[in-house]
Amino acid sequence: MSLNFKSQLENMDGVYSALFAAAEKIYGVLKKGEGLKFATSSNESGDDQIELDVIADEAFFETLSKDPFVRYVVSEERPDMVKTSDGPYSVALDPLDGSKSALIGIPSGAIFGVWENADEAKDFHGGNILSGGFFVFGMNLEVYFADGDKAYKGQFDDASGEWTLLPFEGAMPSADILAINGQMQKVWPTWLQNYVSDNLQATGGKKPYNMRWFASMVSDMKRMVLQGGLFAYPGADFKGYETGKLRLVYEAIPMAFLIHALGGSSTNGEMSLLKMPVDKLHQKVPVFIGDKAKIESLESYAAKG
Ligand code: F6P
Repeated sequence: MSLNFKSQLENMDGVYSALFAAAEKIYGVLKKGEGLKFATSSNESGDDQIELDVIADEAFFETLSKDPFVRYVVSEERPDMVKTSDGPYSVALDPLDGSKSALIGIPSGAIFGVWENADEAKDFHGGNILSGGFFVFGMNLEVYFADGDKAYKGQFDDASGEWTLLPFEGAMPSADILAINGQMQKVWPTWLQNYVSDNLQATGGKKPYNMRWFASMVSDMKRMVLQGGLFAYPGADFKGYETGKLRLVYEAIPMAFLIHALGGSSTNGEMSLLKMPVDKLHQKVPVFIGDKAKIESLESYAAKG
């Protein structure tokens, strides 16, 4: 692998090399069509695992544990954080997000965040994150991430083994696209039912939002980064979904960090995802991420209750 990237953060280059090397390995396995069977286990979150979930988790641990600047690694696939050195950085990962989508050929990916001096769950909050983003395992191996306040997109070239990374320029796009699973709508909070029906119905000559849902957060977020929109995974009055499905530390905060770096915004309905206190490593949170105007509008519906 060849990664020609210089982080603005001290001693972070090795962390990126470790993350990118693991992503290449996982993508290589996926491209061969391996690991696409249900595993005999389930993960810390109680989700079914496919074999590639386990392969992905191990790939990240293998590369990250060799970097002397990585202190702890947190993974969706493990109950507790694992100490790897006394270095300054702690990394939290969803090593294979959207694994069930991978089974049917929809792009999956990996989500990562890097924090400084994070030794326990409460330290992994959005005020403390330094780097965050995601890899996409699709037609190509791609990455979208923010290194501090600078956002980048990149693609891996299989033939040369090289990554090309480019900074994002200009304003975040703002297409009227809503990414949400409509399955729970009868048990969503009333304000959300109102928000969604007001924006999806063509009334009074107003063009309705388009609706798109990959059920693969990395794919939905890639579309948002490139075209704009609102990504939503709300809480619902249904057992197990009271605070949604997505995880605060290794899904919501890294994605929100990237979108904020691009000029967008995020909320759980009441406050920015980057302001939420963290109680548990695997805690769930209602997630709304999008351009500023859409988040402001959504929060005004939420405030009405
Ligand atoms: O967190 C796992 C995940 O697969 C996300 O990638 C995706 O956004 C979401 O779950 C899909 O959930 P559902 O299957 O409820 O639509």
